[in-house]
Amino acid sequence: MNLRPTSRLSSGRTVESQNHSPRPWTTRQVVLLTALAGSVACALSLLATSFEINSSRQSEPTYAKPREMILAIDELRACLSDDAISTDDDDLRSHGYSAWSTINAERLPVAIAYPKTTEEVSQIAKICHNYRIPMVPYSGGSSLEANFSAPFGGITIDFAFMDKIVAFHKDDMDVVVQPSVSWMDLNEQLKDDGLFFPVDPGPTAKIGGMVGTSCSGTNAVRYGTMKDWVINVTAVLADGTIIKTKRRPRKSSAGYNLTSLFVGSEGTLGIVTEITLKLAVLPQETSVAVVTFPTMRDAAATAFQVMRAGIPIAAMEIMDEVQMNVVNRSGTTTRKWKEVPTLFFKFAGTKAGVHENIGLVKRIAGSHNSEEFKFAADEKERNDLWSARKQALWSMLALREKDSEVWSTDVAVPLSRLPELIEISKKELDELGLFASILGHIGDGNFHESIMYDKNDTKQREAVRKCVHAMVERALEMEGTCTGEHGIGLGKKEALFAELGPETINVMRSLKRAMDPHWLMNPGKIIDP
Ligand SMILES: Cc1cc2nc3c(=O)[nH]c(=O)nc-3n(C[C@H](O)[C@H](O)[C@H](O)COP(=O)(O)OP(=O)(O)OC[C@H]3O[C@@H](n4cnc5c(N)ncnc54)[C@H](O)[C@@H]3O)c2cc1C
Ligand SMILES: *[C@@H]1O[C@H](CO)[C@@H](O)[C@H](O)[C@H]1NC(C)=O
Ligand SMILES: *[C@@H]1O[C@H](CO)[C@@H](O)[C@H](O)[C@H]1NC(C)=O
Ligand SMILES: *[C@@H]1O[C@H](CO)[C@@H](O)[C@H](O)[C@H]1NC(C)=O
Ligand SMILES: *[C@@H]1O[C@H](CO)[C@@H](O)[C@H](O)[C@H]1NC(C)=O
Ligand SMILES: *[C@@H]1O[C@H](CO)[C@@H](O)[C@H](O)[C@H]1NC(C)=O
Repeated sequence: MNLRPTSRLSSGRTVESQNHSPRPWTTRQVVLLTALAGSVACALSLLATSFEINSSRQSEPTYAKPREMILAIDELRACLSDDAISTDDDDLRSHGYSAWSTINAERLPVAIAYPKTTEEVSQIAKICHNYRIPMVPYSGGSSLEANFSAPFGGITIDFAFMDKIVAFHKDDMDVVVQPSVSWMDLNEQLKDDGLFFPVDPGPTAKIGGMVGTSCSGTNAVRYGTMKDWVINVTAVLADGTIIKTKRRPRKSSAGYNLTSLFVGSEGTLGIVTEITLKLAVLPQETSVAVVTFPTMRDAAATAFQVMRAGIPIAAMEIMDEVQMNVVNRSGTTTRKWKEVPTLFFKFAGTKAGVHENIGLVKRIAGSHNSEEFKFAADEKERNDLWSARKQALWSMLALREKDSEVWSTDVAVPLSRLPELIEISKKELDELGLFASILGHIGDGNFHESIMYDKNDTKQREAVRKCVHAMVERALEMEGTCTGEHGIGLGKKEALFAELGPETINVMRSLKRAMDPHWLMNPGKIIDP
């Protein structure tokens, strides 16, 4: 099992080699040629479907040649407004590369489309479908496994202009949003009505991408993950067909649940253009506590026992001494923290409930050698502490030296296996001798490793790869999963195969082929043809 592709494309041939073109066609070439090419009427475009293209039986997809790509860009410009399509170099770079992603493909998209409506997305898909152009949806761009990157080039669809709350049904406790609504802005708007959306991944994440990765966050231990909060979606399929998966009730036994097909599919089955989300009631009282332990094992054992006792904590996060050092140095909080293994707790509910839960947790922590049990003094410190946790990855990135990179990855295992997995992983990280931290959503059996390494040092990079690989393998041995919340993207395809086996992967592949026979939707991610 190799977690990283050995070449820049983990599998399949490159577009260039399929086209027998002697040189790869670059973005610049396409842009230049686009400028030369005459514009083609939109009406014509949708008739021009007669490319001799691969059939769906063929296992390797064939994508548009540069010339066709130019025609397509022209048609897109004619169909949408001129400014809806960008081929600006910086724009292409910012959509194909992420400083925090574990993997970055070396190719960039050829153009970025900025649709304003579902109908425009459908038009984009129709044109891309006619010309066999890969489509890569892009919302907040905060995901960590290179899923929004464009290893086969193609067109990135950025929802920047689809950032509206379409409808808010206060009494039904649901909201209909466009993909580029940020979960943090949404909560800002909902709070006066006493409601909130509890799924909290990276601070800059947006609902479309959150559906894409079926993300979670610190609140998941109480509220569940993205998959639990999506009622229905409007999706544009590879050929431009627009579908709605359900209606608005919170439950329905009406047919297959196509909503769940899109949640976590990383844009490989369709483009989600509207989402109906459930909302939760804001708790009356919230309290945040920080508890320190002599070892990670003590901290993990406490977490396990808190879960097993059924204490309804709102969140429970583990951070090792390295991560506490990062928090300390980041200056996100005014107070300085002990640089030792630590659990962050959030308690929420009624006043009496919160009080009772704190007592119960204190007792369990005490039986596992807890040292300090400190509460955030006020709302500001509560927020500071939580944001220190949420920005942990950025804080780590901020400490990078010139040529260093951070490899950040997540796994999840059944709860009872967690203390052991954390202990072994921690030991291996220490042996690696690099600046590396462990932190995690421990109540869900989910944790992350972040390792800083010198990207120019191939030996070091290989050692890190091996270490991450070993952690994933160990998680699988413990009946766990290769990713609890970040997704598969480009880098974990082989791990997914090891996790599920060929039969299950083949069912996924059949589903993919049924919905996207030409393999146009975010190709290169999750599974290969
Ligand atoms: C500091 C930091 C902390 C983080 N903490 C967490 C955490 O606690 N928990 C967690 O789960 N994740 C976490 N993440 C990862 C990230 O925030 C999540 O993966 C999030 O769901 C990504 O949302 P996005 O809008 O940025 O998606 P993007 O990166 O834009 O896209 C994610 C995927 O979805 C696809 N996609 C995007 N839009 C659509 C659409 N409209 N239709 C179909 N597919 C689409 C993309 O092609 C891509 O495959 C963290 C990231 C950072 C940087
Ligand atoms: C998607 O890609 C982004 C950016 O590379 C990455 O950060 C994120 O984790 C990926 N998500 C999945 C589900 O692969
Ligand atoms: C949910 O379903 C209703 C009824 O079919 C539909 O009108 C609405 O647009 C859907 N919402 C989303 C976000 O797809
Ligand atoms: C369908 O799946 C979605 C996403 O996983 C989930 O949130 C929803 O509750 C499911 N709907 C039904 C009716 O089961
Ligand atoms: C936290 O950081 C401060 C400032 O960098 C440092 O002086 C202090 O020693 C650190 N705290 C601990 C307990 O190590
Ligand atoms: C590391 O590699 C980059 C190119 O990837 C190069 O620009 C840089 O100078 C190298 N740094 C060192 C210290 O070798």
